[in-house]
Amino acid sequence: MSSTKKGAPSKQNERLLRAARKTMKRAYAPYSQFKVGAALLTSKGKVFTGCNVENASYGLSNCAERTAIFAAIAQSGPELNIRAIAVVNDQGVPCSPCGACRQVIYEFGPDVTVFFQSSKGWKQSHITELLPEGFRLK
Ligand code: THU
Repeated sequence: MSSTKKGAPSKQNERLLRAARKTMKRAYAPYSQFKVGAALLTSKGKVFTGCNVENASYGLSNCAERTAIFAAIAQSGPELNIRAIAVVNDQGVPCSPCGACRQVIYEFGPDVTVFFQSSKGWKQSHITELLPEGFRLK
């Protein structure tokens, strides 16, 4: 059975959306003008957030999702277990995590739920639906 869900956000997702929107406002996105925020929930119930940080050398830009994950590790240590992550943008357009972010999410959340705006509205997907056969070393 697919774990994809659509419809009104749950209380947990509302909490993550609020946190993601707050951090999205701090994004550094002078090149794309596309501000993104992400908020993740750990298995210990903590929330960490991130925004995109761009660079004049475009390829060095960091997505909101990875910023949130790196902030969580920096603030809380390497035993990170992500339960859920929500992604928002300031243009209200569909925005699912990019391929690189899917792999980084998978590293810390093989059972994570990703909440994002799809072309058909808000959508909740399991990380393995977004990243089938994700790479693992351990
Ligand atoms: N971006 C994110 O931060 N997360 C996503 O899920 C998609 C894209 C950022 C990267 C770049 O700063 C801008 O959005 C435009 O691609």
